Amino acid sequence: MRVILFGPPGSGKGTQAGLIGKKYRLPTISTGDILRRAVSRGTPLGRQAEALMKQGSLVSDEIVAGLVREAISTKEARRGYVLDGYPRTVPQAEMLERMDGRRSETAIEILVGQEALIKRLAGRRVCSLCQAVTNLEVNPPRLPGLCDSCGGTLEQRSDDRPEVIRERLRVFETQMVPLRDHYRKRKAYGSVSGEGTPAEVFGRMTGLLDPLLEGLDKGRQG
Ligand code: AP5
Ligand code: MG
Repeated sequence: MRVILFGPPGSGKGTQAGLIGKKYRLPTISTGDILRRAVSRGTPLGRQAEALMKQGSLVSDEIVAGLVREAISTKEARRGYVLDGYPRTVPQAEMLERMDGRRSETAIEILVGQEALIKRLAGRRVCSLCQAVTNLEVNPPRLPGLCDSCGGTLEQRSDDRPEVIRERLRVFETQMVPLRDHYRKRKAYGSVSGEGTPAEVFGRMTGLLDPLLEGLDKGRQG
């Protein structure tokens, strides 16, 4: 089974992907995280992606497909996987089906109002060492500026500046309807409200996923 999470910037895809992965023991694949790692390592691919990410634009379908192909062909991903932020466009969805078309899938859209999104993104901080994500408003660190898990310095993502947030939201708006229609046509679409605490949202997620994923451990094809 492949679980696809999509939704606007700040809707909680990364947060929920982590919780889903832990509960159902599935690896999570975040194209945003993979790209940020490439940027911070200064790899050729990272150098190509950096300028686009900084301005809130999408990286090319071909680059992202290459990253996903690699991530889904690992041994850990054999039972299934959770995709965070991929696919974002219909061509990406079609590429994914060509890469791994026999697997069943469900695409869950996380719905959150714009005001909450902007607040969440403004308050998000990421640990420079362990990459844990926190939020100054919802879950402030015990020691200001330091990660609760490892003591690393908390930083703001470079694309969480207001003008870049606006562009990311605009890009999402243009892709959302065709992507939603694509998964509706395939009868693989679901949505949950992303408002409320992360635990409340996760409760809605498991309401959708439990019936779909309970067969996984009985050795059925994922
Ligand atoms: P990506 O990293 O995927 O960014 P995004 O889609 O803009 O989403 P975010 O990571 O900002 O938000 P999220 O939904 O994961 O929310 P989170 O859980 O962190 O992509 C970045 C860039 O990479 C793109 O702009 C593009 O350039 C490139 N890229 C990536 N994938 C690509 C693709 N497929 N094709 C082309 N280009 C691609 O939560 C946000 C904050 O809110 C956190 O602080 C969190 O603690 C908090 N929070 C979470 N849940 C709640 C809750 N229920 N209540 C209150 N606060 C909450
Ligand atoms: Mg994310």
